[in-house]
Amino acid sequence: MFKYSLISAFLLLFASIGYAVEIDISSSSSICAAAKLVQEGMWNYYEGFRPGGVIGMFAAPNYWWNAGEAFGGLVDYFTFCDPNNKTLEAWIHDGMYHQAGENYNYIPSNQSMTEGNDDQGVWGMAIMEAVERNFTNPDSHSWLELSQAIFNTMNARWDTAHCGGGLRWQIFTWNSGYNYKNSISNGCLFHLAARLARYTGNGTVYIETAENVWQWMNDVKFLTEEANGNFRVYDGAEIDDNCTKVTDLRWSYTYGVFMTGCAYLYNFTGEEIWKTRTEEIVDASLDYFFANGIMQETTCQPSRLCNNDQRSFRSLFSRCLGLTMLIIPELEGQIRPYLETSAAAAARSCSGGTDQITCGENWSAAVWDGVYGLGEQMSALEVMMSLVVREPLSVATGGSNRSDFSAGMNQADAENKNKLKITTKDKAGAGALTAIVLIILLGGAVWMVF
Ligand SMILES: *[C@@H]1O[C@H](CO)[C@@H](O)[C@H](O)[C@H]1NC(C)=O
Ligand SMILES: *[C@@H]1O[C@H](CO)[C@@H](O)[C@H](O)[C@H]1NC(C)=O
Ligand SMILES: *[C@@H]1O[C@H](CO)[C@@H](O)[C@H](O)[C@H]1NC(C)=O
Ligand SMILES: *[C@@H]1O[C@H](CO)[C@@H](O)[C@H](O)[C@H]1NC(C)=O
Ligand SMILES: *[C@@H]1O[C@H](CO)[C@@H](O)[C@H](O)[C@H]1NC(C)=O
Ligand SMILES: *[C@@H]1O[C@H](CO)[C@@H](O)[C@H](O)[C@H]1NC(C)=O
Ligand SMILES: *[C@@H]1O[C@H](CO)[C@@H](O)[C@H](O)[C@H]1NC(C)=O
Ligand SMILES: *[C@@H]1O[C@H](CO)[C@@H](O)[C@H](O)[C@H]1NC(C)=O
Repeated sequence: MFKYSLISAFLLLFASIGYAVEIDISSSSSICAAAKLVQEGMWNYYEGFRPGGVIGMFAAPNYWWNAGEAFGGLVDYFTFCDPNNKTLEAWIHDGMYHQAGENYNYIPSNQSMTEGNDDQGVWGMAIMEAVERNFTNPDSHSWLELSQAIFNTMNARWDTAHCGGGLRWQIFTWNSGYNYKNSISNGCLFHLAARLARYTGNGTVYIETAENVWQWMNDVKFLTEEANGNFRVYDGAEIDDNCTKVTDLRWSYTYGVFMTGCAYLYNFTGEEIWKTRTEEIVDASLDYFFANGIMQETTCQPSRLCNNDQRSFRSLFSRCLGLTMLIIPELEGQIRPYLETSAAAAARSCSGGTDQITCGENWSAAVWDGVYGLGEQMSALEVMMSLVVREPLSVATGGSNRSDFSAGMNQADAENKNKLKITTKDKAGAGALTAIVLIILLGGAVWMVF
């Protein structure tokens, strides 16, 4: 609160009646013109252009996972709005490839103080976007192989010793949250399984995994299947109580990853149950995460308590809604009006900063609300892109088939069992970092999910 109001007061001094970003939501070229400005705002936070900066990373307070979020949206922007821009293609390609890590599984050793299963999973969503958009492959590994490595290393961490199954939030024992199991980590595994099954046309391991995740989420009551907008996915629970004390917070991106996973599973299996589940999640999402048709992060935004991570969740949520209505076209009539209203509102919020194209957090405000950051830029970008993206490719429709179903498994002993080599100094660093981050970012806010 304090931080926001200070920043707002400061920046509003410099804000004047700006150009803002205008869009005609019925025109792809108009949306792309707006998306271009919003996307350029994202690159302002990019570290890869700075002397000594790391390729593939965005400036603090953004973490490694936020870069994964960002690149997924940028792949779509490149593919559908600026596909002949070789410079942009190289920025995105190099950024995504650079963070693949020593073992090409998106577990770079120098992120072991911050990387959780959800972080690896969100990077997985970006790499999967590259797969489905036929984005130029690296020479050493295809994006598909890299996605398969992410899936396999995540799946190998499935932990039956506590709560009857599930992924923990954290990969590494020394990170705070290691004893917590959460819906977003498991949702990412579910989501990647569904997309890989559809893309490769080979459901052997993927379908079984997706079904297991869904069943386990039900068993521990992290989700409850109900119609009429009453479907719920909650945040997670501690293993100390065998996951019985569920933290009942709802986040848009968690709804998004499960919704889209169900849609892909319906498309791949043809089983009606996955369509029904998709519809239940869509109903609940449109009910809870929108006010007057405009998307918001309802659990924290009205009380102005969203932290840096939470302020970015709508980017993935928008992407997932867009994919869902492409995979199940019958849902387009229901979903699209919400995305159109939200995209127009988001554009109106992009009138801030000295560049006058900085996007805000409150899309209902009709002007920039003084909040700014990578999360605001990419949420605005993705809600716009959700209106222009087209159906994802698969091998059956001409996508690349450079595939490795056991990618990442040869490192199973090293990474999957949380035994990455790490010095005591790094561990102390991780503890201190966690503490500092908790104090700075969260204040009195909801701490459970950051
Ligand atoms: C490629 O895209 C970037 C980012 O929008 C832009 O700065 C650059 O001018 C574009 N290049 C061309 C040749 O259009
Ligand atoms: C971390 O590792 C990557 C390669 O995996 C490297 O490019 C980067 O410079 C390293 N340092 C930081 C701070 O990310
Ligand atoms: C822990 O939770 C799991 C999943 O709900 C359940 O199957 C198991 O029986 C529980 N274990 C104990 C000791 O209560
Ligand atoms: C899955 O998607 C393909 C391609 O759009 C479509 O032809 C097929 O009918 C879909 N299957 C189902 C069950 O919806
Ligand atoms: C967002 O803006 C609307 C319209 O001005 C206002 O009613 C609402 O209270 C604002 N929300 C927040 C969290 O500031
Ligand atoms: C995918 O990209 C490759 C390499 O650029 C190209 O040869 C192929 O035609 C593309 N496939 C589709 C379906 O666009
Ligand atoms: C894709 O590759 C696998 C393994 O190399 C092969 O079995 C399969 O037939 C290929 N599918 C297509 C559509 O080319
Ligand atoms: C299908 O996936 C399984 C398990 O991932 C793998 O062992 C098998 O080789 C794959 N089949 C084809 C035809 O690629």
